[in-house]
Amino acid sequence: MTVRNPDREAIRHGKITTEALRQRPAYPTWAMKLTMAITGLIFGAFVLVHMIGNLKIFMPDYGPQSAHPGEPQINVYGEFLREMGAPIFPHSSLLWIVRIVLLVALVLHIYCAFALTARSHKSRGKFRRTNLMGGLNSFTTRSMLITGIVLLAFIIFHILDLTLGVAPAAPDVFEHGEVYANMVASFSRWPVAIWYIIANLVLFLHLSHGIWLAVSDLGITGRRWRSILLAVSYIVPAAVLIGNIIIPFVIAVGWVS
Ligand code: HEM
Repeated sequence: MTVRNPDREAIRHGKITTEALRQRPAYPTWAMKLTMAITGLIFGAFVLVHMIGNLKIFMPDYGPQSAHPGEPQINVYGEFLREMGAPIFPHSSLLWIVRIVLLVALVLHIYCAFALTARSHKSRGKFRRTNLMGGLNSFTTRSMLITGIVLLAFIIFHILDLTLGVAPAAPDVFEHGEVYANMVASFSRWPVAIWYIIANLVLFLHLSHGIWLAVSDLGITGRRWRSILLAVSYIVPAAVLIGNIIIPFVIAVGWVS
């Protein structure tokens, strides 16, 4: 027991102590949870916008009268992302700002995830609590760390595959700027297409539960808002899942080539 006004007799008999039960942590738990919520929502917004951009693979090539005759729309979109902000800002500078924000968000998210997990294991001690909520909710809660690690592995593979073009993650024919051809070459490899589909299913589990946790950690307690945001926490990840997995699927089965 820790007390404010120490009773010398009791201390001498080892009944109470003036020492704190545990050290004050460097970063409070609430600050780390808030960081996880904000950085997670940044990534959630990114995957939604990224999925919408990826769907440009289904748009027809630019016509002969346009500024980019015969070019796939997704290649021009990729070029636009690199040119964004020019000539006011140097070439690719806005893209690099987005990349740095995402990288910082990812590092903070992962750091807080491991720190909070270690903290909760320590405070729980030997007492294990199982299946408190029951069903899928409990499964997704307990698997957040594992689904997060799978997603990290996916992000590394994905950047080597479609951004940097590093074999064997990337196909041998990879060419910078040829977004359409690179996607077709990559997803024509069945194991890669299946890996993308599995990773996106994992993303659904992680994101849907993550959005719901963020809603609580941001202190949204009103009944009406919680029921709206519960729906959002399923609808947004489901849209990302469907929009994303359709691409490797249609390419792997040869409907888009
Ligand atoms: C089937 C689903 C996906 C497809 C088809 C896809 C496609 C692509 C392509 C083509 C690029 C390169 C763009 C370019 O160089 O112009 C890219 C970059 C990237 N993707 Fe995806 N992506 C998918 C899913 C995801 C998911 C689920 C995440 C995150 C969890 C993600 C995160 C990223 C990141 C961080 C980059 C690097 C952006 C940059 O720095 O330029 N992607 N993606």
